[in-house]
Amino acid sequence: MKNNFWFDESPDRRGSGSYKWDSAEDQDVIPLWVADMDFRTAPVVEEALLRRVKHGIFGYTLVGDDYYSALCDWFLHQHGYQIRKEQVIYTSGVVPAISAIIQALSRPGEGVIVQMPVYNCFFSSIKNNGCRIEDAPLRRIDLEDGRFTYEMDFKALEIAASKDDVHLMLLCNPHNPAGRAWSEDELKKVAEICGRHNVTVVSDEIHCELTMPGCKYVAYGTIDSSAIVCVSPSKAFNTAGLQIANIVCPNNEIRKKVDKSININEVCDVNPFGPVALIASYSNQGKEWLDSLRIYLNENYRLLVAMFRSELPQCPVTKLEATYLPWIDISALKLNSTEVEEEILKEAKVWVNSGDMYGVDGYIRINIACPRKRLEEGLHRVITWLKRHLDK
Ligand SMILES: Cc1ncc(COP(=O)(O)O)c(C=O)c1O
Repeated sequence: MKNNFWFDESPDRRGSGSYKWDSAEDQDVIPLWVADMDFRTAPVVEEALLRRVKHGIFGYTLVGDDYYSALCDWFLHQHGYQIRKEQVIYTSGVVPAISAIIQALSRPGEGVIVQMPVYNCFFSSIKNNGCRIEDAPLRRIDLEDGRFTYEMDFKALEIAASKDDVHLMLLCNPHNPAGRAWSEDELKKVAEICGRHNVTVVSDEIHCELTMPGCKYVAYGTIDSSAIVCVSPSKAFNTAGLQIANIVCPNNEIRKKVDKSININEVCDVNPFGPVALIASYSNQGKEWLDSLRIYLNENYRLLVAMFRSELPQCPVTKLEATYLPWIDISALKLNSTEVEEEILKEAKVWVNSGDMYGVDGYIRINIACPRKRLEEGLHRVITWLKRHLDK
């Protein structure tokens, strides 16, 4: 398919108040860490936001019917996931949503299931609410082509879910950083185990639009109507700073509790740009841009695989089914991954994320959502550094 958009070009983000770019003091650093992209958002989103800016008044926001229609139509037509307006609570982000949900549905001291390695804010949301991290770790599978992937360890999940003080599971679907877009069978098994043990599943589906060719996202809400699903267009359309997300919760009682918690946490109001961006994203033109983006990201991923395979086969790469965040095994270096992150930043001037952050040492996570030339230069620096330390 022809790529109609200019992902090879990117505005200079330094000095734009970018967390990803402006956190590094050294101007030569290539940031391949925080999960946002170095691409402009879809033109349809940019144009809608410009129109809204031109209005010139930015008072408190009423989220209207057009918002719910865009959201519900998108999920029904793109993902076969039927959402009804009454089931939706909008909020300012998936992380605030998860934190409020934990607060609403568990008591301090209780365990909340996660599957490590997993998105680091799961840990902080659990701990900040006085709860305990109950890990049901993913199982690594080495593939014949030299890459690796993960599967769920259902025995570990069963053990975790059967504990008396465990009532909640945080599922990451698709999974950051394991790169998995969970299959229907896997998700059915999660629903079966959690259902049997009265564990409510909270599914973080923020990466759901970012599947690689041939990989399918299955909305957990199509399998388990007692679940709470969190979605946002922010990862796919690069609008994380606009702070808009949705909690989908068909169960009335649970939704009332979550709604109360969202209010107590004061994350029930959104800024005027979030809904505008969401409506424009979840449109035909948004879809056209997104399809092109996914092709570009897949080519970036293939570049990464090719470079590691030819230059550093001692460091295998994950099979990436979704997200733009490949996960690399650097255990051959026998160094702590936080130290590796710090040293790569200092010496190779590339900012990656350490595996430690996600609960597992011996890995790094690389954000490939940037123009290909920059990625190539960043990967070249990382691989050169890793090779040098492999030989030590
Ligand atoms: C799995 C996952 N959930 C949530 C977030 C952040 O969500 P938000 O910015 O809406 O709080 C991220 C960001 O990287 C993520 O990877």
